[in-house]
Amino acid sequence: MLRRLHPEQPASFEFTPANLAWAKGQISKYPEGRQASAIIPLLWRAQEQEGWLSRPAIEHIAEMLDMAYIRALEVATFYFMFQLQPVGSVAHIQICGTTSCMICGAEELIRVCKEKIAPNAHQLSADGKFSWEEVECLGACTNAPMAQIGKDYYEDMTAEGFSRLLDDMAAGKVPVPGPQNGRYAAEPLSGLTSLKDFESGRTKHNGSVQRAVDIGDTLKRIDGTEVPLLTPWLGKSPAPVATPRKAAAKPAAKPAAKPAAKPERSAQKPPAKAAAPEKAKKPRSLSAPRKGGADDLKMIKGVGPKLETLLHGLGFFHFDQIAKWTAAELAWVDDNLEGFKGRASRDGWTDQAAILAKGGQTEFSQRVKKGDVY
Ligand code: FES
Repeated sequence: MLRRLHPEQPASFEFTPANLAWAKGQISKYPEGRQASAIIPLLWRAQEQEGWLSRPAIEHIAEMLDMAYIRALEVATFYFMFQLQPVGSVAHIQICGTTSCMICGAEELIRVCKEKIAPNAHQLSADGKFSWEEVECLGACTNAPMAQIGKDYYEDMTAEGFSRLLDDMAAGKVPVPGPQNGRYAAEPLSGLTSLKDFESGRTKHNGSVQRAVDIGDTLKRIDGTEVPLLTPWLGKSPAPVATPRKAAAKPAAKPAAKPAAKPERSAQKPPAKAAAPEKAKKPRSLSAPRKGGADDLKMIKGVGPKLETLLHGLGFFHFDQIAKWTAAELAWVDDNLEGFKGRASRDGWTDQAAILAKGGQTEFSQRVKKGDVY
């Protein structure tokens, strides 16, 4: 398939401030002079922000990474995951058309796309809300037939169910991704036959779906406020946890007839050099909970019964203890969470604990209280 830049391009591209901070965080993972290694995540984030990759976006990223435009263009045109033309403002549907999905009904899903969206792949629907394409195996063959929308998988679909899904999305609803036939993950349709212990203590949805539901970023242009920016390798504590927002699709960037403008000179500078990481330091701990008893640390997203026991063993029983961890202390805790290394910073425990210590609620703790977390 010939992959070319779209004939109509927007005049310019800029990352949102939060996405720019995220992009700089990604670049800081690589040693000086190797920034080009961040090309794929940055192109992907630009696509998540705009829906597709325009020439100004590709060139802007090439300049951020001190790369020749042609090198960035080679990457963008090589990988089919990058959309080089405007996509539906609500969703671009990628239907898997490989063997398992084809046997299980992918052709029916494609028929629905042709009827409800547009007769041809990569063509926008009349209202501009949807576009579609057929793609190769997406690795969810056990849950065939399936479609990918953004980063989410919709699995175990039927033509009728898929058609309803499109109607819901057109009406502004955000369907829950994952298996659409009641399956939890990829277990046998008749239920688990082994590893049955797994059923107790699990979240309401499987891991990928639960994460999508928690963040609330399904069917949404990503502006960088969805999850905290985590850069533990810089010795910095994560940015404040963003309040998950209702997914609302923004229109795709409108192509302008004008040729692409050159990004500002300031955008061409390589990011500041990474600060040296602080040395990990053990936080102050307690030998036992205070008089009133330990707080329910499971109210913190990412802390299950096992991690709560582990935290008690390390001398942490209360939200206010966790809220006070400095970056160096957080690094120590991350290192000492056997089997769960890095979980404390990944899930922003200090920010969550700060809210809970003041008697507030996080979106996750409210769900725990409602019994939505198993
Ligand atoms: S064949 Fe469709 S996901 Fe593998």
